[in-house]
Amino acid sequence: MSNNILEIKNLRKSFGGLKAVDITSLNFERNKIISLIGPNGAGKTTFFDLITGFTKQDSGTTTFDGKNISNLESFKISRLGMVRTFQLTKVFDRMTVNENILFSASSLKNDRFINSLFKSSIKSKIEQELNERKNEVLNMVNLYHMKDSYARELSGGQKKLLELARVIIQKPKILLLDEPLAGVNPKLSEDILSLINTFVKEGISILMVEHNISAVMKVSDHIVVLAEGSVIAEGSSDEIRANEKVVSAYLGKSNE
Ligand SMILES: Nc1ncnc2c1ncn2[C@@H]1O[C@H](COP(=O)(O)OP(=O)(O)OP(=O)(O)O)[C@@H](O)[C@H]1O
Ligand SMILES: [Mg+2]
Repeated sequence: MSNNILEIKNLRKSFGGLKAVDITSLNFERNKIISLIGPNGAGKTTFFDLITGFTKQDSGTTTFDGKNISNLESFKISRLGMVRTFQLTKVFDRMTVNENILFSASSLKNDRFINSLFKSSIKSKIEQELNERKNEVLNMVNLYHMKDSYARELSGGQKKLLELARVIIQKPKILLLDEPLAGVNPKLSEDILSLINTFVKEGISILMVEHNISAVMKVSDHIVVLAEGSVIAEGSSDEIRANEKVVSAYLGKSNE
């Protein structure tokens, strides 16, 4: 098995005359924290939309865990184990915290789940396992005490935590996080970063878009820099900090 969880070749997408994404080749190593950074409008979210099947690509090949997933529908991609969050947090306001998490888990609908519809003994066993896992996840994100509250009653930061709970219950192989720290206070940022580290220890690969550069520099094993849809640099935190192109396109002259 290749050590790359994700391999991208010639991925292109234009909106009218605007080239939003134009990536010749990009590989992501398994079980690492990889950050994707770049100025506003660089194409980071579009890149996520393309590889997760939320936006149709113009051309390109995406290989996920050895499988060609180009042009596959988004629900099939998430069932294969590539799961994402959104730049604008998506939770179901009119469901409770519990229901939000269980709803995400049910979208897995693997063979075992379908079989369970026919055999009640298996069904109750799976439900019990799911319930245990849900409680584990609720504790992990520190929302157990809010489990019966409606999602609309949560703070912005708590909604971010709920969104993480909703993706992690799906046991992804890779987790794509679009600005997990945006609008989050420093304490919660620390908590979210430590959760991300826990996910990696559980064997999940992380691909994160984030503008909080100091956090990115601290936690990333590898950083990819996008500008105007293309990769202008990649490397370790130190390599990115020292890269002239990145400093002028994104980090600014002070190079902090
Ligand atoms: N559905 C769309 N229709 C037209 N243009 C789009 C669409 N989605 C994105 N774009 C354009 O593609 C470019 C890349 O947008 P994208 O949202 O991917 O940037 P980003 O790197 O995620 O930026 P930010 O850091 O601000 O979130 C932008 O110029 C944007 O206006
Ligand atoms: Mg974006």
